[in-house]
Amino acid sequence: MKKKKLIITIFGSTGDLTARKLLPAIKQLYDKNEINKDLQILALGRRDYSLDEYLDYMQSLTTETLDIHFFKTILTYVKMQITEASDYQNLKQVIEETQDKDAQKLFYLAIGPELLPIVAKNMYESHLVTQANDRIIFEKPFGHDLKSAKAINQMLWQYFKEEQIYRIDHYLGKEMIQNIMTVRFANIIFESVWDNQYIDSVQIIAKEEEGILNRAGYYDTAGALKDMVQSHLLQMLCLTAMDAPKDYSSEAIQEEKVKVLKALTFDPKVSFTGQYDGYLKEKGIKESSLTDTFVFLKAYVNNTRFQGVPFYLLTGKKLEEKTSKIILKFKPTKEQEKWQLPLSENELHIKIAPKDGVKLTFNSKKPGLKSHIEKVDLAYDMASKYVGNLPEAYEKLLLDAIMGHKTLFTRWDEIEYSWKFIDKVVNEKLDLIIYETYEKLKKEIIKRANIKI
Ligand code: BG6
Repeated sequence: MKKKKLIITIFGSTGDLTARKLLPAIKQLYDKNEINKDLQILALGRRDYSLDEYLDYMQSLTTETLDIHFFKTILTYVKMQITEASDYQNLKQVIEETQDKDAQKLFYLAIGPELLPIVAKNMYESHLVTQANDRIIFEKPFGHDLKSAKAINQMLWQYFKEEQIYRIDHYLGKEMIQNIMTVRFANIIFESVWDNQYIDSVQIIAKEEEGILNRAGYYDTAGALKDMVQSHLLQMLCLTAMDAPKDYSSEAIQEEKVKVLKALTFDPKVSFTGQYDGYLKEKGIKESSLTDTFVFLKAYVNNTRFQGVPFYLLTGKKLEEKTSKIILKFKPTKEQEKWQLPLSENELHIKIAPKDGVKLTFNSKKPGLKSHIEKVDLAYDMASKYVGNLPEAYEKLLLDAIMGHKTLFTRWDEIEYSWKFIDKVVNEKLDLIIYETYEKLKKEIIKRANIKI
Protein backbone atom coordinates (compact mmCIF):
# COMPACT_ATOMS: atom_id res chain seq x y z
CA MET A 1 0.00 0.00 0.00
CA LYS A 2 1.23 3.50 -0.86
CA LYS A 3 2.16 5.43 2.29
CA LYS A 4 -0.21 8.21 3.27
CA LYS A 5 0.39 11.81 4.35
CA LEU A 6 -2.78 12.38 6.32
CA ILE A 7 -4.39 9.77 8.54
CA ILE A 8 -7.78 10.49 10.10
CA THR A 9 -8.64 7.99 12.81
CA ILE A 10 -12.24 8.10 14.02
CA PHE A 11 -13.16 6.73 17.44
CA GLY A 12 -16.91 6.16 17.62
CA SER A 13 -17.01 5.62 13.88
CA THR A 14 -20.27 3.68 13.89
CA GLY A 15 -22.29 6.63 15.18
CA ASP A 16 -24.62 9.10 13.51
CA LEU A 17 -22.06 11.88 13.51
CA THR A 18 -19.58 9.94 11.38
CA ALA A 19 -22.22 9.02 8.81
CA ARG A 20 -24.03 12.36 8.66
CA LYS A 21 -21.23 14.86 9.18
CA LEU A 22 -17.66 13.57 9.23
CA LEU A 23 -17.56 11.34 6.16
CA PRO A 24 -19.39 13.86 3.93
CA ALA A 25 -17.14 16.68 5.21
CA ILE A 26 -13.97 14.71 4.45
CA LYS A 27 -15.25 13.92 0.96
CA GLN A 28 -16.01 17.60 0.31
CA LEU A 29 -12.56 18.69 1.49
CA TYR A 30 -11.00 16.03 -0.70
CA ASP A 31 -13.00 17.08 -3.78
CA LYS A 32 -12.14 20.73 -3.20
CA ASN A 33 -8.44 19.86 -2.96
CA GLU A 34 -8.33 21.35 0.52
CA ILE A 35 -6.65 18.36 2.13
CA ASN A 36 -3.82 16.08 1.19
CA LYS A 37 -5.00 13.54 -1.38
CA ASP A 38 -2.71 10.99 0.20
CA LEU A 39 -5.38 10.37 2.76
CA GLN A 40 -6.42 7.37 4.81
CA ILE A 41 -9.40 7.13 7.13
CA LEU A 42 -9.29 4.55 9.90
CA ALA A 43 -12.77 3.87 11.25
CA LEU A 44 -12.65 2.13 14.62
CA GLY A 45 -15.51 0.05 15.94
CA ARG A 46 -16.15 -2.98 18.07
CA ARG A 47 -18.50 -4.74 15.66
CA ASP A 48 -17.23 -7.36 13.28
CA TYR A 49 -17.79 -5.60 9.97
CA SER A 50 -16.22 -6.09 6.57
CA LEU A 51 -15.55 -2.78 4.80
CA ASP A 52 -18.67 -3.26 2.67
CA GLU A 53 -20.83 -3.98 5.68
CA TYR A 54 -19.45 -0.97 7.52
CA LEU A 55 -20.12 1.37 4.60
CA ASP A 56 -23.61 -0.06 4.09
CA TYR A 57 -24.32 0.56 7.74
CA MET A 58 -23.05 4.14 7.46
CA GLN A 59 -25.28 4.69 4.45
CA SER A 60 -28.29 3.44 6.42
CA LEU A 61 -27.71 6.17 9.04
CA THR A 62 -27.94 9.08 6.64
CA THR A 63 -30.33 10.34 4.00
CA GLU A 64 -27.42 11.85 2.07
CA THR A 65 -25.81 9.57 -0.51
CA LEU A 66 -22.32 8.57 0.58
CA ASP A 67 -19.82 8.01 -2.20
CA ILE A 68 -19.22 4.37 -1.34
CA HIS A 69 -16.77 3.88 -4.19
CA PHE A 70 -14.61 6.74 -2.91
CA PHE A 71 -14.65 5.53 0.69
CA LYS A 72 -13.72 2.02 -0.40
CA THR A 73 -10.46 3.42 -1.74
CA ILE A 74 -9.47 5.46 1.30
CA LEU A 75 -11.15 3.93 4.35
CA THR A 76 -10.15 0.97 6.48
CA TYR A 77 -12.45 -0.41 9.13
CA VAL A 78 -10.47 -1.50 12.18
CA LYS A 79 -12.26 -3.75 14.64
CA MET A 80 -11.16 -3.03 18.19
CA GLN A 81 -12.36 -2.39 21.74
CA ILE A 82 -11.29 1.18 22.39
CA THR A 83 -11.35 0.51 26.13
CA GLU A 84 -8.82 -2.32 25.82
CA ALA A 85 -5.17 -1.21 26.03
CA SER A 86 -3.97 -4.33 24.23
CA ASP A 87 -6.06 -3.52 21.11
CA TYR A 88 -4.05 -0.34 20.60
CA GLN A 89 -0.99 -2.30 19.54
CA ASN A 90 -2.82 -3.47 16.47
CA LEU A 91 -4.08 0.06 15.78
CA LYS A 92 -0.57 1.41 16.10
CA GLN A 93 0.66 -1.19 13.68
CA VAL A 94 -2.06 -0.35 11.15
CA ILE A 95 -1.15 3.34 11.42
CA GLU A 96 2.56 2.65 11.03
CA GLU A 97 2.01 0.45 8.01
CA THR A 98 -0.21 3.06 6.40
CA GLN A 99 1.58 6.30 7.10
CA ASP A 100 4.47 8.15 5.69
CA LYS A 101 6.88 8.80 8.59
CA ASP A 102 6.11 12.52 8.68
CA ALA A 103 2.39 12.15 8.00
CA GLN A 104 -0.03 14.23 10.02
CA LYS A 105 -2.42 12.29 12.23
CA LEU A 106 -5.84 13.48 13.23
CA PHE A 107 -7.66 11.56 15.95
CA TYR A 108 -11.36 12.32 16.06
CA LEU A 109 -12.99 11.27 19.33
CA ALA A 110 -16.71 11.09 18.61
CA ILE A 111 -17.36 9.25 21.87
CA GLY A 112 -19.22 9.90 25.13
CA PRO A 113 -17.45 11.71 27.99
CA GLU A 114 -17.35 8.52 30.07
CA LEU A 115 -15.01 6.96 27.50
CA LEU A 116 -12.67 9.94 27.18
CA PRO A 117 -10.39 9.12 30.14
CA ILE A 118 -9.73 5.54 29.13
CA VAL A 119 -9.33 6.29 25.43
CA ALA A 120 -6.97 9.22 26.08
CA LYS A 121 -4.90 7.06 28.43
CA ASN A 122 -4.73 4.20 25.95
CA MET A 123 -3.76 6.57 23.14
CA TYR A 124 -1.05 8.07 25.27
CA GLU A 125 0.38 4.80 26.53
CA SER A 126 0.48 3.28 23.08
CA HIS A 127 2.31 6.37 21.71
CA LEU A 128 -0.15 7.07 18.94
CA VAL A 129 0.42 10.80 19.04
CA THR A 130 3.96 11.30 17.86
CA GLN A 131 4.20 14.52 15.88
CA ALA A 132 3.81 18.14 17.01
CA ASN A 133 1.18 18.66 14.29
CA ASP A 134 -0.88 15.62 15.27
CA ARG A 135 -4.32 16.66 16.53
CA ILE A 136 -6.87 15.19 18.88
CA ILE A 137 -10.38 16.48 18.32
CA PHE A 138 -12.96 16.08 21.07
CA GLU A 139 -16.66 16.15 20.50
CA LYS A 140 -18.94 17.59 23.12
CA PRO A 141 -20.17 16.99 25.76
CA PHE A 142 -16.96 17.88 27.50
CA GLY A 143 -18.02 16.50 30.90
CA HIS A 144 -21.42 16.78 32.54
CA ASP A 145 -20.62 19.48 35.10
CA LEU A 146 -17.69 21.66 36.12
CA LYS A 147 -16.09 18.98 38.26
CA SER A 148 -16.12 16.29 35.58
CA ALA A 149 -15.01 18.73 32.88
CA LYS A 150 -12.06 19.78 35.05
CA ALA A 151 -11.10 16.16 35.63
CA ILE A 152 -11.22 15.41 31.90
CA ASN A 153 -9.18 18.46 31.10
CA GLN A 154 -6.53 17.74 33.71
CA MET A 155 -6.20 14.28 32.32
CA LEU A 156 -5.86 15.55 28.75
CA TRP A 157 -3.14 17.99 29.76
CA GLN A 158 -1.31 15.15 31.43
CA TYR A 159 -1.18 13.25 28.12
CA PHE A 160 -1.21 15.85 25.35
CA LYS A 161 -0.05 19.37 24.64
CA GLU A 162 -2.73 22.07 24.55
CA GLU A 163 -1.69 22.87 20.95
CA GLN A 164 -2.75 19.33 19.98
CA ILE A 165 -6.13 19.48 21.72
CA TYR A 166 -9.16 20.69 19.73
CA ARG A 167 -12.47 20.94 21.62
CA ILE A 168 -15.18 21.14 19.02
CA ASP A 169 -18.40 23.13 19.14
CA HIS A 170 -19.85 22.68 15.67
CA TYR A 171 -21.91 25.89 15.92
CA LEU A 172 -18.65 27.83 15.65
CA GLY A 173 -18.16 26.34 12.19
CA LYS A 174 -21.48 27.68 10.90
CA GLU A 175 -21.08 30.48 8.38
CA MET A 176 -23.26 33.06 10.07
CA ILE A 177 -21.68 32.44 13.46
CA GLN A 178 -18.27 33.03 11.92
CA ASN A 179 -19.75 36.18 10.46
CA ILE A 180 -20.96 37.73 13.74
CA MET A 181 -17.67 39.44 14.50
CA THR A 182 -17.46 40.83 10.96
CA VAL A 183 -20.99 42.20 11.08
CA ARG A 184 -20.35 43.75 14.47
CA PHE A 185 -16.83 45.07 14.25
CA ALA A 186 -16.38 45.79 10.55
CA ASN A 187 -19.44 48.04 10.29
CA ILE A 188 -19.66 51.38 12.05
CA ILE A 189 -23.47 51.35 11.77
CA PHE A 190 -23.62 48.28 13.98
CA GLU A 191 -20.54 48.72 16.10
CA SER A 192 -21.57 52.17 17.29
CA VAL A 193 -24.97 51.04 18.60
CA TRP A 194 -23.94 47.70 20.08
CA ASP A 195 -24.46 48.44 23.77
CA ASN A 196 -27.00 49.09 26.50
CA GLN A 197 -27.57 52.66 25.40
CA TYR A 198 -29.23 51.40 22.20
CA ILE A 199 -30.06 47.73 22.71
CA ASP A 200 -33.14 46.86 24.70
CA SER A 201 -32.88 43.06 24.74
CA VAL A 202 -31.26 40.13 22.97
CA GLN A 203 -32.75 36.76 22.09
CA ILE A 204 -30.57 33.72 21.44
CA ILE A 205 -32.68 30.98 19.94
CA ALA A 206 -32.10 27.40 18.76
CA LYS A 207 -35.37 25.59 18.17
CA GLU A 208 -35.69 22.11 16.71
CA GLU A 209 -38.62 20.15 15.33
CA GLU A 210 -36.99 16.76 15.85
CA GLY A 211 -37.16 14.85 19.11
CA ILE A 212 -34.15 13.03 20.54
CA LEU A 213 -33.92 10.61 17.58
CA ASN A 214 -31.96 7.52 18.59
CA ARG A 215 -29.77 9.24 21.19
CA ALA A 216 -31.75 8.36 24.33
CA GLY A 217 -28.75 6.98 26.22
CA TYR A 218 -26.80 10.21 25.95
CA TYR A 219 -29.67 12.68 25.90
CA ASP A 220 -31.40 11.45 29.03
CA THR A 221 -28.25 12.10 31.05
CA ALA A 222 -27.73 15.52 29.47
CA GLY A 223 -30.93 17.40 28.63
CA ALA A 224 -31.27 20.65 26.71
CA LEU A 225 -29.38 22.79 29.21
CA LYS A 226 -26.22 20.70 29.01
CA ASP A 227 -26.65 19.58 25.41
CA MET A 228 -27.34 22.98 23.84
CA VAL A 229 -26.99 25.90 26.28
CA GLN A 230 -23.61 24.99 27.79
CA SER A 231 -22.06 24.87 24.34
CA HIS A 232 -23.88 26.37 21.36
CA LEU A 233 -26.08 29.02 22.99
CA LEU A 234 -23.36 30.33 25.28
CA GLN A 235 -20.98 30.57 22.34
CA MET A 236 -23.61 32.56 20.42
CA LEU A 237 -24.07 34.76 23.46
CA CYS A 238 -20.32 35.33 23.87
CA LEU A 239 -19.88 36.43 20.26
CA THR A 240 -22.83 38.80 20.64
CA ALA A 241 -21.86 40.32 23.99
CA MET A 242 -18.05 40.43 23.90
CA ASP A 243 -15.99 43.57 23.55
CA ALA A 244 -13.73 44.01 20.55
CA PRO A 245 -10.64 41.82 20.92
CA LYS A 246 -7.25 43.54 20.96
CA ASP A 247 -6.54 41.77 17.67
CA TYR A 248 -8.23 38.95 15.77
CA SER A 249 -5.96 36.15 16.94
CA SER A 250 -7.69 33.15 18.51
CA GLU A 251 -6.18 33.97 21.92
CA ALA A 252 -7.42 37.56 21.93
CA ILE A 253 -10.92 36.51 20.84
CA GLN A 254 -11.10 33.73 23.42
CA GLU A 255 -9.93 36.19 26.07
CA GLU A 256 -12.93 38.42 25.41
CA LYS A 257 -15.36 35.51 25.28
CA VAL A 258 -14.20 34.30 28.69
CA LYS A 259 -14.83 37.77 30.15
CA VAL A 260 -18.45 37.51 29.01
CA LEU A 261 -18.89 34.10 30.65
CA LYS A 262 -17.42 35.42 33.89
CA ALA A 263 -19.93 38.27 33.88
CA LEU A 264 -22.97 36.07 33.24
CA THR A 265 -25.87 35.80 35.70
CA PHE A 266 -29.49 34.76 35.31
CA ASP A 267 -32.89 35.29 36.86
CA PRO A 268 -34.20 31.99 38.30
CA LYS A 269 -37.69 33.35 38.91
CA VAL A 270 -38.31 33.99 35.23
CA SER A 271 -36.33 31.08 33.80
CA PHE A 272 -37.83 27.61 33.40
CA THR A 273 -37.37 24.29 31.64
CA GLY A 274 -39.73 21.95 29.81
CA GLN A 275 -40.12 18.38 28.65
CA TYR A 276 -42.06 17.41 25.57
CA ASP A 277 -45.14 15.32 26.04
CA GLY A 278 -44.21 11.82 24.87
CA TYR A 279 -40.57 12.07 25.90
CA LEU A 280 -41.08 9.44 28.59
CA LYS A 281 -42.38 7.05 25.93
CA GLU A 282 -39.26 7.39 23.76
CA LYS A 283 -37.25 4.19 23.50
CA GLY A 284 -34.52 4.04 26.15
CA ILE A 285 -35.83 6.86 28.38
CA LYS A 286 -36.31 6.23 32.09
CA GLU A 287 -39.97 6.08 33.10
CA SER A 288 -39.74 8.90 35.61
CA SER A 289 -37.11 10.97 33.81
CA LEU A 290 -37.06 14.66 34.67
CA THR A 291 -34.70 15.51 31.83
CA ASP A 292 -35.32 18.87 30.19
CA THR A 293 -35.91 19.00 26.44
CA PHE A 294 -36.54 22.76 26.55
CA VAL A 295 -34.90 25.67 28.36
CA PHE A 296 -35.80 29.33 28.66
CA LEU A 297 -33.34 31.51 30.55
CA LYS A 298 -33.33 35.20 31.27
CA ALA A 299 -29.66 36.06 31.63
CA TYR A 300 -27.59 39.19 32.09
CA VAL A 301 -24.06 40.03 31.03
CA ASN A 302 -22.79 42.31 33.73
CA ASN A 303 -20.12 44.12 31.76
CA THR A 304 -20.07 47.84 31.02
CA ARG A 305 -21.39 47.30 27.51
CA PHE A 306 -24.46 45.26 28.39
CA GLN A 307 -25.27 45.97 32.04
CA GLY A 308 -29.05 45.77 32.48
CA VAL A 309 -29.87 44.29 29.05
CA PRO A 310 -31.73 40.97 29.30
CA PHE A 311 -30.41 38.12 27.16
CA TYR A 312 -33.18 35.57 26.59
CA LEU A 313 -31.85 32.10 25.79
CA LEU A 314 -34.31 29.63 24.33
CA THR A 315 -33.74 26.13 23.02
CA GLY A 316 -35.80 22.99 22.74
CA LYS A 317 -36.79 19.89 20.85
CA LYS A 318 -40.19 19.07 19.32
CA LEU A 319 -40.98 22.71 18.74
CA GLU A 320 -42.90 24.25 15.85
CA GLU A 321 -39.89 24.94 13.62
CA LYS A 322 -36.18 24.41 13.12
CA THR A 323 -34.51 27.76 13.53
CA SER A 324 -31.35 29.16 15.09
CA LYS A 325 -30.96 32.90 15.29
CA ILE A 326 -29.96 35.88 17.37
CA ILE A 327 -32.32 38.84 17.55
CA LEU A 328 -31.22 42.22 18.89
CA LYS A 329 -34.10 44.53 19.73
CA PHE A 330 -33.22 48.19 19.78
CA LYS A 331 -34.68 50.90 21.98
CA PRO A 332 -37.19 53.39 20.55
CA THR A 333 -35.93 56.72 19.23
CA LYS A 334 -36.34 59.80 21.41
CA GLU A 335 -38.76 61.09 18.75
CA GLN A 336 -41.17 58.26 19.41
CA GLU A 337 -43.52 60.26 21.67
CA LYS A 338 -43.96 63.05 19.16
CA TRP A 339 -45.12 60.72 16.40
CA GLN A 340 -48.28 59.67 18.18
CA LEU A 341 -48.28 56.64 15.92
CA PRO A 342 -47.32 53.12 16.77
CA LEU A 343 -43.71 52.52 15.75
CA SER A 344 -41.90 49.20 15.69
CA GLU A 345 -38.64 48.50 17.40
CA ASN A 346 -35.66 48.19 15.13
CA GLU A 347 -34.47 44.61 15.13
CA LEU A 348 -31.34 42.99 13.82
CA HIS A 349 -31.74 39.30 13.08
CA ILE A 350 -28.65 37.18 12.70
CA LYS A 351 -30.01 34.07 11.02
CA ILE A 352 -28.01 30.90 11.44
CA ALA A 353 -30.36 28.11 10.44
CA PRO A 354 -32.09 26.91 8.38
CA LYS A 355 -30.79 29.72 6.13
CA ASP A 356 -27.88 31.98 6.95
CA GLY A 357 -28.40 35.70 6.64
CA VAL A 358 -28.93 39.07 8.28
CA LYS A 359 -32.12 41.11 8.47
CA LEU A 360 -32.65 44.61 9.78
CA THR A 361 -36.16 45.88 10.41
CA PHE A 362 -37.05 49.55 10.44
CA ASN A 363 -39.99 51.93 10.26
CA SER A 364 -40.96 53.37 6.93
CA LYS A 365 -43.81 55.53 5.66
CA LYS A 366 -46.37 53.46 3.87
CA PRO A 367 -46.86 54.86 0.35
CA GLY A 368 -50.21 56.56 -0.04
CA LEU A 369 -52.16 59.61 0.98
CA LYS A 370 -52.29 58.76 4.65
CA SER A 371 -49.39 59.02 7.08
CA HIS A 372 -49.22 55.37 7.99
CA ILE A 373 -46.00 53.78 9.07
CA GLU A 374 -45.04 50.18 8.43
CA LYS A 375 -42.26 47.87 9.54
CA VAL A 376 -40.02 46.86 6.63
CA ASP A 377 -36.90 44.75 6.17
CA LEU A 378 -33.44 45.15 4.75
CA ALA A 379 -32.25 41.62 4.24
CA TYR A 380 -29.09 39.83 3.21
CA ASP A 381 -29.82 36.24 2.31
CA MET A 382 -26.43 34.60 2.36
CA ALA A 383 -27.89 31.19 1.62
CA SER A 384 -29.43 32.35 -1.69
CA LYS A 385 -26.42 34.39 -2.75
CA TYR A 386 -24.12 31.41 -2.38
CA VAL A 387 -26.50 28.60 -3.34
CA GLY A 388 -24.76 25.26 -2.91
CA ASN A 389 -21.48 26.92 -1.97
CA LEU A 390 -21.80 27.25 1.77
CA PRO A 391 -19.45 24.78 3.42
CA GLU A 392 -20.82 22.57 6.16
CA ALA A 393 -19.63 23.47 9.66
CA TYR A 394 -17.66 20.24 9.96
CA GLU A 395 -15.74 20.92 6.75
CA LYS A 396 -14.47 24.20 8.11
CA LEU A 397 -13.69 22.75 11.52
CA LEU A 398 -11.83 19.72 10.19
CA LEU A 399 -9.81 21.91 7.88
CA ASP A 400 -8.98 24.39 10.63
CA ALA A 401 -7.85 21.58 12.92
CA ILE A 402 -5.59 20.20 10.18
CA MET A 403 -4.16 23.69 9.58
CA GLY A 404 -3.76 24.41 13.30
CA HIS A 405 -6.23 27.33 13.39
CA LYS A 406 -7.85 27.48 16.80
CA THR A 407 -10.27 30.41 16.63
CA LEU A 408 -13.27 28.19 15.99
CA PHE A 409 -12.46 25.80 18.82
CA THR A 410 -13.09 26.37 22.49
CA ARG A 411 -10.28 27.07 24.91
CA TRP A 412 -10.40 25.30 28.25
CA ASP A 413 -11.43 28.35 30.26
CA GLU A 414 -14.41 28.97 27.98
CA ILE A 415 -15.61 25.50 28.88
CA GLU A 416 -14.72 26.00 32.53
CA TYR A 417 -16.75 29.21 32.91
CA SER A 418 -19.65 27.95 30.86
CA TRP A 419 -19.92 24.92 33.17
CA LYS A 420 -19.68 27.21 36.21
CA PHE A 421 -22.72 29.05 34.90
CA ILE A 422 -24.60 25.85 33.99
CA ASP A 423 -23.93 24.36 37.43
CA LYS A 424 -25.56 27.43 38.98
CA VAL A 425 -28.62 26.99 36.77
CA VAL A 426 -28.83 23.28 37.65
CA ASN A 427 -28.63 24.11 41.36
CA GLU A 428 -31.66 26.37 41.08
CA LYS A 429 -33.82 23.38 40.11
CA LEU A 430 -35.93 25.40 37.68
CA ASP A 431 -39.58 24.51 37.09
CA LEU A 432 -40.15 21.77 34.51
CA ILE A 433 -43.25 22.20 32.36
CA ILE A 434 -44.62 19.41 30.19
CA TYR A 435 -45.47 20.79 26.74
CA GLU A 436 -47.50 19.43 23.88
CA THR A 437 -46.93 22.41 21.62
CA TYR A 438 -44.78 25.53 21.53
CA GLU A 439 -47.91 27.62 22.14
CA LYS A 440 -47.97 26.49 25.75
CA LEU A 441 -44.35 27.52 26.26
CA LYS A 442 -44.97 30.82 24.51
CA LYS A 443 -47.76 31.65 26.96
CA GLU A 444 -45.53 30.73 29.88
CA ILE A 445 -42.80 33.04 28.55
CA ILE A 446 -45.26 35.91 28.19
CA LYS A 447 -46.47 35.29 31.74
CA ARG A 448 -43.00 35.16 33.25
CA ALA A 449 -40.95 37.53 31.11
CA ASN A 450 -43.57 39.62 29.38
CA ILE A 451 -42.01 39.06 25.98
CA LYS A 452 -43.03 37.30 22.80
CA ILE A 453 -40.51 34.87 21.29
C1 BG6 B 1 -25.90 18.99 18.84
C2 BG6 B 1 -26.82 18.48 19.89
O1 BG6 B 1 -24.72 19.48 19.41
O2 BG6 B 1 -26.54 20.02 18.11
C3 BG6 B 1 -28.12 17.98 19.28
O3 BG6 B 1 -26.19 17.43 20.61
C4 BG6 B 1 -28.74 19.04 18.41
O4 BG6 B 1 -29.03 17.57 20.27
C5 BG6 B 1 -27.71 19.60 17.43
O5 BG6 B 1 -29.80 18.46 17.70
C6 BG6 B 1 -28.27 20.80 16.69
O6 BG6 B 1 -27.35 21.18 15.72
P1 BG6 B 1 -27.81 21.84 14.37
O7 BG6 B 1 -26.53 22.10 13.64
O8 BG6 B 1 -28.72 20.88 13.69
O9 BG6 B 1 -28.54 23.10 14.76
